[in-house]
Amino acid sequence: MEVGEESGNRLDAIEGTHAFIEGEQAQTLGWSQDHLGPTLRMRRGRTARLTIGNRLESEITSHWHGLHVPGWLDGGPQSLIASGRNIEQALDIDQPAGTFWYHSHPHGRTGDQVYRGLAGLLLIEDDRADTSVLPSAYGVDDIPLIIQDKAFTRRGNLQYDDGGMAAMQGFRGDRIAVNGALEPVAHVPQGLVRFRLLNASNARVYVLSFDDGRRFHQIASDAGLLPAPVSRSQLQLAPAERAEILVDFSNGAEARLVSQDVPVQMMGGMMGGGMMGGGSDLEVLKVVVGGSRPATVSELPQEFSGAYLPVFGEPVRRREFRLNMMMGMGMMRAMFGGRPTFGINGQAYDMGRIDQQLRRGETEIWEISADMMSHPFHVHGTSFQVLTQNGISVDFAETGMKDVVWIENSAEILVRFDHPATPEAPYMYHCHILEHEDSGMMGQFTVS
Ligand code: C2O
Ligand code: CU
Ligand code: CU
Repeated sequence: MEVGEESGNRLDAIEGTHAFIEGEQAQTLGWSQDHLGPTLRMRRGRTARLTIGNRLESEITSHWHGLHVPGWLDGGPQSLIASGRNIEQALDIDQPAGTFWYHSHPHGRTGDQVYRGLAGLLLIEDDRADTSVLPSAYGVDDIPLIIQDKAFTRRGNLQYDDGGMAAMQGFRGDRIAVNGALEPVAHVPQGLVRFRLLNASNARVYVLSFDDGRRFHQIASDAGLLPAPVSRSQLQLAPAERAEILVDFSNGAEARLVSQDVPVQMMGGMMGGGMMGGGSDLEVLKVVVGGSRPATVSELPQEFSGAYLPVFGEPVRRREFRLNMMMGMGMMRAMFGGRPTFGINGQAYDMGRIDQQLRRGETEIWEISADMMSHPFHVHGTSFQVLTQNGISVDFAETGMKDVVWIENSAEILVRFDHPATPEAPYMYHCHILEHEDSGMMGQFTVS
């Protein structure tokens, strides 16, 4: 759905039913459709106007994950849309082209709502973004893949749990759905194909590769194009991360995109450390060559003139963020099946407390560390550069601009905010394992 200046574009949160398993209906949520939402296209330099409606019993928000918009348009937990209400939004799009997403974000219920379907893809387009040298025929050789894991009851309904072990490790399903379909098959033209990958899972980390070992090129990460394609044989995607890849299907052979069943990574402490879960490979997507339309591009581009390059001033400040799983009685509650309390810097999320106050335009270094388990750390309202991970410096050419960073042990990021966020509508930083976020691993900040 093209979201431009004209009014009348609507996105309504609704209840629906969706047959993940043939002949069986699951109760789902969606944006203007039974499950998930339409792909929204917004153009750099334009204003995207849309009306968001809530036709559910419960409160929702409309968060634009990765978009550089001020706090009052960001759709964080403070910006609740009550049942039966509509809100009008006008988003001024002023950032490089890329693959983003939108999802509901009410505190304590994000995991449940996103899992049931209140999420969709959002593409920012820009004439400067090498459209002519990249596969750009949507659904033909430019294919979005929203990857999620689901668990089902015996009657084919969705199963979800955010207490006990599910809260500790994050909720993980045993079936993989792509764009809402189990055992998906993509028909692609014989040539170069672009996949836009979004890990919209609540907690599962994917390490993606092709079963025949073929290499591919990563061309974009969370916030836009890399300076040049990066050749890879596998790619890790933590919750909320995005990547665009180019895969060569010119030899006509079909292939399977698979993921290692990545175990939950515990780092010692009370859980004894080591790996938990983990098993054989999971099939994500079967790719069959022989679409009805030809590929639009045959040659791998050498570099991107529309790459999203970092432009930062000298950092004026350092801030530290420690992601805590050991919060008082939290562990005890989890052991008895309840929802634990997690936090950041020793405090669980509190809607009434502003955790940090930042100044617009100032560059800062944020140092994030984890105390028990690895976490995907996300920041609203901007894109950042990852400087180090586990103390080792990171090559920008391989990672690009990001809004989620995997905190195995620690990371440092370079960050700056160009839009304001007030105490009434602050920005968030949080773990994007949604059960951790819902259990308090989130903080909020203003930018003035
Ligand atoms: Cu994808 Cu705070 O969100
Ligand atoms: Cu976000
Ligand atoms: Cu986490």
